[in-house]
Amino acid sequence: MADRLDGTVALVTGASSGIGEATALALAASGASVALAARRVDRLDELAAKIRAEGGRALVIRADVTDEAQARGAVERTVAELGRLDTLVNNAGQMLLGPAVGAPLSEWQRMVDINVLGLLYCSHAALPHLLAAAESAPRRVADMVNISSVAGRVARSGSAVYNATKHGVGAFSEGLRQEVTGRHVRVSLVEPGGTRTELSSHNRPEVQETIRQRFADIDMLHATDIAEAILYIVTRPRYVAVNEILIRPTEQAN
Ligand SMILES: NC(=O)c1ccc[n+]([C@@H]2O[C@H](COP(=O)([O-])OP(=O)(O)OC[C@H]3O[C@@H](n4cnc5c(N)ncnc54)[C@H](OP(=O)(O)O)[C@@H]3O)[C@@H](O)[C@H]2O)c1
Repeated sequence: MADRLDGTVALVTGASSGIGEATALALAASGASVALAARRVDRLDELAAKIRAEGGRALVIRADVTDEAQARGAVERTVAELGRLDTLVNNAGQMLLGPAVGAPLSEWQRMVDINVLGLLYCSHAALPHLLAAAESAPRRVADMVNISSVAGRVARSGSAVYNATKHGVGAFSEGLRQEVTGRHVRVSLVEPGGTRTELSSHNRPEVQETIRQRFADIDMLHATDIAEAILYIVTRPRYVAVNEILIRPTEQAN
């Protein structure tokens, strides 16, 4: 049986599009107050209006989570304005693919900054609040959901640095899970396969073409498919921890 999330507060990073946006909507529909963090605040304002129109509570936070102070600020504003933090969805990320040989170093730096450091900054700031929420009503359990990727399981030519960042997310999540699970903070890893979002649009044109060809014959996942998996994780009763979900389009072999 799924629990509802009434009386709880969630922070979703990268809520301005794709998986983060769908997740924020799903969490709000299940009763959580939702803090929405990203850089494109116009998109967050639209999403907040939609959540409020459906009777939910939303807080818009402009934050570049690659900046430690802004990441910490997003967590602190969530707690200051919504009262607590029960659920952190570390979703903000970038995927910049292409051969490693001759790649622009700035792309590697951007991925490490957002996929690894951004996630770590948010996690560091959130942990004391998650631990506190796990000791209190209404649920006496708290969740950190880290969005990795199939790329966090399987490395591929043309994806080496994205693979490195997402494998890093997996390692951090498992180490942290073991550390805090006894205190009822559940750390979960979600590993999506090809999902129709804006993610690939930040690549150079020739790389976008390679990605397009790879997925041309595949019926890709929708952001809502991943949001449903996240909702499943965070609505389990207190004694159930879903550690990991790997979810691919059926036609995606690897
Ligand atoms: N789509 C897929 O096929 C797929 C597969 C596996 C894993 N994933 C993972 O799923 C997550 C979400 O991606 P998506 O597919 O939903 O792509 P998306 O639509 O491009 O969403 C990425 C989100 O991250 C935010 N973001 C990027 N840099 C940020 C920063 N410095 N500070 C704050 N927010 C930042 C973006 O918001 P702003 O630009 O407004 O800041 C946006 O909301 C990523 O971690 C990605 O690696 C996606």
